[in-house]
Amino acid sequence: MPISLATQIPGPRTREALERGRFDMQAGYRALIIDDEASHGCYLVDLDGNTILDMFSSFALGALGYNHPRLLAAARSEAVVRALANPTSTPFLTTHSWLDFVDRVAERWAPPGMHKMYCVDAGGEAVESAIKAAYIVHGERKRAGAGKPRDPLELAPAEQQAILENRAGSKAVVVSFGGAFHGRGLGPMSATHSKPIHKADLPCFEWPVVPFPASRFPLEDNLEANAASEAASLEALAAVLAKHSGNVAAVLVEVVQCEGGDRYASPDFFRTVQKMTRAAGAALILDEVQTGVGVTGSLWAHEQLALDEPPDMVVFGKKMQLGGFFAGERYDISQFGRMYQTRNGDRARAAIALATLEAIEEERLLTAVRTQGEYFVEQLRELAARHPTLVSQPRGVGFLLAFDMPTPELRNTFLVRAREKGVMASYTGTRSVRLRPHLITTRKEIDEALAVFGAVLDELV
Ligand SMILES: Cc1ncc(COP(=O)(O)O)c(C=O)c1O
Repeated sequence: MPISLATQIPGPRTREALERGRFDMQAGYRALIIDDEASHGCYLVDLDGNTILDMFSSFALGALGYNHPRLLAAARSEAVVRALANPTSTPFLTTHSWLDFVDRVAERWAPPGMHKMYCVDAGGEAVESAIKAAYIVHGERKRAGAGKPRDPLELAPAEQQAILENRAGSKAVVVSFGGAFHGRGLGPMSATHSKPIHKADLPCFEWPVVPFPASRFPLEDNLEANAASEAASLEALAAVLAKHSGNVAAVLVEVVQCEGGDRYASPDFFRTVQKMTRAAGAALILDEVQTGVGVTGSLWAHEQLALDEPPDMVVFGKKMQLGGFFAGERYDISQFGRMYQTRNGDRARAAIALATLEAIEEERLLTAVRTQGEYFVEQLRELAARHPTLVSQPRGVGFLLAFDMPTPELRNTFLVRAREKGVMASYTGTRSVRLRPHLITTRKEIDEALAVFGAVLDELV
């Protein structure tokens, strides 16, 4: 199903459809309307019959492309039909299908050292929940240290009243990194620093922010500069942890900063961050909303960091089809009522998540992503060598791929022209092109994308 263009993109039917649904507040954001019955594998088909190669996967949400038979079968299964027809508040009342999902994830797919899982809807909500878990454990420990009951329900009535009236909120902080993106809820947003538009006019916690190293590529040519920026970041982290000593609930970090521009730090950096976080008595929360579920060539990107011990929490979303977090033993918040949403544990989406994880395993997609990802990044390096004034910093691990362009304007033009020629890619940071191929993407499709990128760059020279 190679790229085939019947009209300009967007064509007349798509343009007409883009005018519909205007009651939807986000209608103006939309780039395309697709025919998702006709779309297949890595190719989406728009309403004008244009077949477009999808190197974007809806901000890394899609894993197995369009109309994957296993996902279709799961979606048509009795378990999904019943889950949709008979909604339940899963923490309180559930069915076998949810228990199957939880047991299978625990047995096969949870990162090593994780003790529990907590599921919500999306990534930002999952980060919010992990932050809550960190605060709860921090608060319980503090109270226990002060000789008070761990359980807030055992506090004196006046103290409970102070809690209800916002007079006893935690003064502890969550440390995050410059350029990070952790979601848009009022909690995670205080740890999000990628674009002012996300936060303008909104209240934020005054939590400390530490610069993120942002390695320069190729790594072997930038050893000194990268080591210096990591050292500076660690020094800033040490200063923040010292300043807020005893009052740090969590250090929250992405394994690769995705929305911030696909920015990397070394495994050594993360190992040191973990040691410092542990010494500060805080939770290390790894946000794997975008890096998780195979896109880096391991199921969880942090497996490639070889940390000295498991992180305290690992947050997931996007490709997992549910949001949530895995927690180490210390962050198991099992007290009734502490973490509860009516829609925790969506059984329908859990069935799709299970089918996704099974397909990744059975189709050996982690190996494929590693192999094809290496090829892709090599080809991006060649593209940079051929177009040194336009393409720089080609980088990637697995199918988490990016390169920089000289200005935001040129990057945006590149993306529009690539789409006009039938390849959908995405932006990140201020001037980076982000590629997030579906995990099933083959070399032939990579070559097809590269040919389009080459043609666009030739036009832009
Ligand atoms: C690392 C990271 N964390 C959290 C989120 C928020 O996820 P969602 O948009 O599903 O709320 C995103 C979304 O891009 C993300 O990339």
